Amino acid sequence: MEGPVPELGARADRCAAALREAGEVLLASHIDADGLTSAGVAAQALSRAGIEFEATFAKQLDGEVLASIAASEYETVLFTDFGSGQLDLIAEYEREGAFTPVICDHHRPAEAETACHLNPLLEGIDGASELSGAGASYVLARALENGHDNRDLAALAVVGAVGDMQASDGELHGANAGIVEEAVDVGVVDAGTDLALYGTQTRPLPKLLEYTGDLGIPGISNDAAGTIRFLDGLDLDLKGDDGWRCWVDLGREERRQVVSGLLRHAITRGVPSEKIETLVGTTYTLSEEDAGTELRDASEFSTLLNATARYDRADVGLAVCLGDRDGALSAARKLLGEHRRNLSAGVRLVEETGVTHEEHVQWFDAGTKIPDTIVGIVAGMAMGSGGISYGKPIVAFAAKSDEETKVSTRGTRGLVGRGLDLSAAVGEAARAVGGDGGGHDVAAGATIPTGSEREFVTRLDDLVGEQLG
Ligand code: C5P
Ligand code: C5P
Ligand code: ZN
Repeated sequence: MEGPVPELGARADRCAAALREAGEVLLASHIDADGLTSAGVAAQALSRAGIEFEATFAKQLDGEVLASIAASEYETVLFTDFGSGQLDLIAEYEREGAFTPVICDHHRPAEAETACHLNPLLEGIDGASELSGAGASYVLARALENGHDNRDLAALAVVGAVGDMQASDGELHGANAGIVEEAVDVGVVDAGTDLALYGTQTRPLPKLLEYTGDLGIPGISNDAAGTIRFLDGLDLDLKGDDGWRCWVDLGREERRQVVSGLLRHAITRGVPSEKIETLVGTTYTLSEEDAGTELRDASEFSTLLNATARYDRADVGLAVCLGDRDGALSAARKLLGEHRRNLSAGVRLVEETGVTHEEHVQWFDAGTKIPDTIVGIVAGMAMGSGGISYGKPIVAFAAKSDEETKVSTRGTRGLVGRGLDLSAAVGEAARAVGGDGGGHDVAAGATIPTGSEREFVTRLDDLVGEQLG
């Protein structure tokens, strides 16, 4: 089968054949938006193909998690959104006959190989910007087709890619664009140019505009009264019966006027053009979801999923991915409120305490003040505000336990263009201090022994310095 990503067709067919032959599998996935959507895509494709499965989630695929997977009764394990980085260990279990692995991932692969391994990086496709875990899982789903072509699952693949920040330069491209095309063809996604702010479905207009701290628009960003003055000055009827309307409630002409007013405001207040450009971009609307809900917008959907999985409630997020719009959705919304509060408290903390600058990296240690499962998101959000520069990768530490520290790092596309590869550098620095890690060139993580943070930073600083040469 050619499929949406022809380069991966042969690998997808091999994976699909192994799963069909198995008849029942353990589906293991990562606990974030991309991991949940990966599992959501795989679960539906497996069901439709008549393959039985049980789903399990983990923060990280470490030795302990792998041992428990190996101890399960399943002879075939489908790994989604992780597995490639741990292939050395997985291949050992395979040799011992513990299980047959089928891997659908987009993280930097370890050395070993296995028969069923679907990863864009193995075919020269960038796993940080061109295909997500959910995208890889979708390529598999298309190969698993069985009377149903599974193209409706492309909507979840788009949510996964957006959740993994793969549209952060304004739109999805590369292999992702092929998936968007299939989603649009079958009518599950609408890709259009629109205001590219977070919250177009659920935030009342003043909040939508006010929460743009990263854009730094004077008189609007972080300025509630200023935002209201701006909106009042537009001479539009922007209030409904229950207060301010949301972006989704506005008609085409109203939207056009708000956007042009906003652009004019930003230009006259001297906002740099590269920031102004980010105000408008491609947005991905899930056409079959109700307007005005988190599920309607790919970006809001992905945040809703992070709010479940990163707090040990992957079951809730998976149920939402599988179509539960009752109990699971309301549980997810409750978790979302909590997640939002944690993120803003986390960013505030980083802004207040600041970062320590080394020559090539900047870092902060959140200790137990930010949960290790969201410290990476916080680090990414904090970049560009409160004296935290875009010029150096940011490194965040959070306590996992008394013995272990979680490391999260984030770079920028510009730095990657100059040679930055956080996955390689973080992995090497972590192993040098007795830990391990990996990920993508632009975002990577690790676990290291408590007490080794300083040495880790020193080594990472050197490695990043060499990369940026
Ligand atoms: O494990 P996984 O690949 O799903 O994690 C991706 C993480 O990397 C996301 O949480 C996202 O914050 C980060 N990322 C990023 N910029 C990119 C790609 C990924 O910050 N371009
Ligand atoms: O946890 P965080 O969001 O910082 O993860 C960034 C990226 O690094 C993700 O793609 C994640 O899967 C990867 N990572 C890893 N090994 C770890 C921790 C994170 O490969 N120990
Ligand atoms: Zn991913």
